[in-house]
Amino acid sequence: MMNRWRLMKRLIPLLAGMVLLLSACGGKSDLSTLKPQGPVAQEQFDLMKLSISIMALVVVVVFAICIYVLIRFRRRKGDNAIPKQVEGNHKLEIIWTVIPLVLLLILGVPTINSVFKLSKDYTHDKNAIQVKVTAHQYWWEFEYPQYGITTAQELVVPTDKKVAFEIASSDVTHAFWIPSIGGKIDANSGVSNKMYLDFPKEGVFKGKCAELCGPSHSLMDFKAKAVDPASFDRWVAAMKEPAKYSDDAAIKAAFENKCLACHAVGETNTGASAPNLTGVGSRLTIGGILYNDEKPVEDNLKEWITDPQKVKPGATMPSAEDIGLTKDELDGIAKYLANYKLDY
Ligand code: CUA
Repeated sequence: MMNRWRLMKRLIPLLAGMVLLLSACGGKSDLSTLKPQGPVAQEQFDLMKLSISIMALVVVVVFAICIYVLIRFRRRKGDNAIPKQVEGNHKLEIIWTVIPLVLLLILGVPTINSVFKLSKDYTHDKNAIQVKVTAHQYWWEFEYPQYGITTAQELVVPTDKKVAFEIASSDVTHAFWIPSIGGKIDANSGVSNKMYLDFPKEGVFKGKCAELCGPSHSLMDFKAKAVDPASFDRWVAAMKEPAKYSDDAAIKAAFENKCLACHAVGETNTGASAPNLTGVGSRLTIGGILYNDEKPVEDNLKEWITDPQKVKPGATMPSAEDIGLTKDELDGIAKYLANYKLDY
């Protein structure tokens, strides 16, 4: 008895620790699958709850029977008889075959139903917003073919329409995931995978790459910004305006010669191999991970342009030194981009 109590005393801190650890699983509404913010994530969460409930039920029943049998049929003092040997019991065998079958049906029917429902193809639906997602090491490109615009790192969507995604990769395999909205689906090279999502609530939802893709995999974040329909229209119009450049001729020339070799702004957005920078000053982050509400966007831009490898190891972007940017050019370009904002 004493030993058992000592064991319990050791187990209690462990159990308390586990409860504490699991209590953090409540998660944040902009990042957690456990706090769905749209019907797709809700449906996926419902499936999770259903399967966990069924598993929990099985665990509880099996453990209860186990514990009951251990106690009820233990060998008592002075009892030296050999128990009755039982070989086969049809009734029991049928019961423990039928119960799992029923449980599998309860789990399988809604799962298959959701799989078909969530894989519905809206990529030819004129009422849906079409977005072509291209994953790159380590950033996300979002093209809106209906509007002829391309942006990066920040997916802007209206709250009133379905968004139909065609997702591919320009290099290795990545995976597109907005945990609180729905997903995920692989981004493969050479094929495009289709998925749709709904964003009924306005807000910013964090997106992640969910497939190990290199040293900066964990830094390959993006944001999904759901805005009201009028704001979305204003954003599209602002994106389509002619590019804005620095008033300073030297800065404009440096930007055109050294940055626009890969990047693009305004209408010049086709075929760029690096993120489109139209309105980059009004994005929530620089490089997807330097938050502009933590530091001024201009400082983040300078930090990023000076040495992208330091922020995102393995990124393909060269450093300021690599492309021969002078200090004045770097400062001027950071200032110009920080002020390149879109009103919507
Ligand atoms: Cu891209 Cu992980």
